[in-house]
Amino acid sequence: MPGPVPDHDQVDDLVQRARALREHAYAPYSGFRVGAVIITASGRRFEGVNVENASYRLTTCAEQTALARMCAEGAREEVVQVVVAGDGADPCTPCGACRQTIAEFGPSALVHATGSVGDARLTRTIGELLPDAFTPARLAGGDGGRDVRA
Ligand code: THU
Repeated sequence: MPGPVPDHDQVDDLVQRARALREHAYAPYSGFRVGAVIITASGRRFEGVNVENASYRLTTCAEQTALARMCAEGAREEVVQVVVAGDGADPCTPCGACRQTIAEFGPSALVHATGSVGDARLTRTIGELLPDAFTPARLAGGDGGRDVRA
């Protein structure tokens, strides 16, 4: 289950951090920089940026980078909050692949999408962003399956 919804100031801090992370994005092809911060159930924080490639389709999104860092650092915890900031004033909502990746580790995660400037913010549960997700449990034909986060 997700942790308590952070208050507005806490989300503001995470938004500022996600916006600042964009400076580290490697986005020479799209020019669109994205920063992401994920928070786990125990309160640990992992950060990511988008990493593009001359072979365009090999791009890794900021959310996926953050989730990969969580795994690489040995944290196999439930993700409860995701904050994403992209260039411009419009909220950068996670792409379809990122929604699936977030659902893997945060089946009840709260996702906050924002831009790099302004107050526009979109907050949704991952269930709203990706209804009826294909989850680890479905691999076993719906009998509960193996929880790969354990
Ligand atoms: N991007 C992300 O990092 N996260 C998303 O959820 C949407 C898209 C990146 C990928 C690519 O480097 C750039 O934004 C433009 O698509």
